[in-house]
Amino acid sequence: MGPQARPAGVNVPRGLPQVMVDPVIMERVIANVTANALRYSPGGLPPLLVACAQADRVELRVIDHGPGVPEADRDRIFLPFQRLGGIDGAIGVGLGLTVSRGLTEAMRGTLQPEETPGGGLTMAISVPVARGPAPADLDSAGSREREGIGPTRRQADYAGQPSMARC
Ligand SMILES: Nc1ncnc2c1ncn2[C@@H]1O[C@H](COP(=O)(O)OP(=O)(O)OP(=O)(O)O)[C@@H](O)[C@H]1O
Ligand SMILES: [Mg+2]
Repeated sequence: MGPQARPAGVNVPRGLPQVMVDPVIMERVIANVTANALRYSPGGLPPLLVACAQADRVELRVIDHGPGVPEADRDRIFLPFQRLGGIDGAIGVGLGLTVSRGLTEAMRGTLQPEETPGGGLTMAISVPVARGPAPADLDSAGSREREGIGPTRRQADYAGQPSMARC
């Protein structure tokens, strides 16, 4: 942290299904994308990290209100050493997104840029939901789930808070 620390909002609802990722790599990807969002966010409009579930995926979005990236450049920023100009004092090598997309795809995920409504860049990270219950969930409900009787654990979780967890 220290004097360089900048605020960012986080809105990750309870009840999201578990995902099949390497947590250290996932953290690296989120850190890279969030560092970009912080770099390009104007003061007073911090980036926001949100998450939701969509079918068999969990989607994580890092939303900023900076200058955004023109649609014509949105593929190019994922190529190595490609940096768009225009931001004073923005220094970097131009590898963060290349590496982040490669790492995300290695986990069967995707990393896609989107336009933030109202202006700015949103980076959408989508990763697969873990198949089957986690070991700790293997209670009687888990047994029923494996036998195909009754709701799955994930459906049961959503049932409690559908509007919070679904995309
Ligand atoms: N949130 C963003 N808003 C606007 N432009 C962005 C954003 N994120 C990335 N870019 C553009 O994409 C380019 C590539 O990003 P990338 O993270 O790969 O490299 P970098 O941040 O410049 O350097 P590095 O991550 O290697 O330190 C950036 O230089 C910038 O031009
Ligand atoms: Mg970067």
